[in-house]
Amino acid sequence: MSRVALVTGGTRGIGAAISVALSKAGYKVAANYAGNDEKAKAFEAETGIAVFKWDVSSYQACVDGIAKVQEALGPVDILVNNAGITRDAMFHKMTPEQWGEVISTNLSGLFNMTHPLWGGMRDRSFGRVINISSINGQKGQMGQVNYSAAKAGDLGFTKALAQEGAAKNITVNAICPGYIATEMVRAIPEKVLAERILPQIPVGRLGEPEEIARIVVFLASDDAGFITGSTISANGGQFFV
Ligand code: CAA
Repeated sequence: MSRVALVTGGTRGIGAAISVALSKAGYKVAANYAGNDEKAKAFEAETGIAVFKWDVSSYQACVDGIAKVQEALGPVDILVNNAGITRDAMFHKMTPEQWGEVISTNLSGLFNMTHPLWGGMRDRSFGRVINISSINGQKGQMGQVNYSAAKAGDLGFTKALAQEGAAKNITVNAICPGYIATEMVRAIPEKVLAERILPQIPVGRLGEPEEIARIVVFLASDDAGFITGSTISANGGQFFV
């Protein structure tokens, strides 16, 4: 029987590419989304991948949403914590709301999603948790104190939980994408992207969502069972840890 994978923020951007790649690799996939019904319905119609709406920043919404996914598809063995938002602003202009929204979604979202699924993974002695962090959690980024703090927190979460999961055959890993061609990156002011960011990427281009999705498929597979607590960077040479 094919395993069930749940991808948060799985109907757009990097998440959509991950959902599609996992589906092509033979998993039963559930794609969570928070807001954009129109895009989600179009994604479902186009790919045949089931979509489920809830906000990962709410623990109770995650508990309820996960219950619906498991009722429809079966126990979730692979969780991809991909959902993320930006609320970019220089620190001196950043509001408590911009701080709070990013921390709630990009950091607490990992707790809210992983905690309700963890017991089942332990009981079945199998699990894959794959957290999509960011290059900006590794190097820091001006205009993103909130985002960089949350994404760095995701790496600590990954390393600590990996140690707890290891004895139960549950791996927990993080991927740090660099600048990938998605709506999130296209929202950066054009001048900043062209003059400040692109020249910092040695391969000379943005990454493609599928280049991240292929790493997820590998980490989800049985072949990756000895990899846990790791951070895999895919950033076109922009930053080396
Ligand atoms: N890298 C280098 N320099 C940057 C920069 C960046 N990413 N972002 C801004 N700057 C520079 C600007 O070029 C500008 O410099 P000059 O004054 O010399 O021209 C200076 O910082 C101030 O920028 P703004 O004039 O744009 O100031 P603002 O207050 O109007 O806006 C901002 C600030 C909201 C941070 C805006 O510049 C911005 O959105 N920058 C992009 C920040 C960024 O890199 N976000 C990443 C989003 S993609 C993502 O998050 C996905 C991922 O994981 C990689």
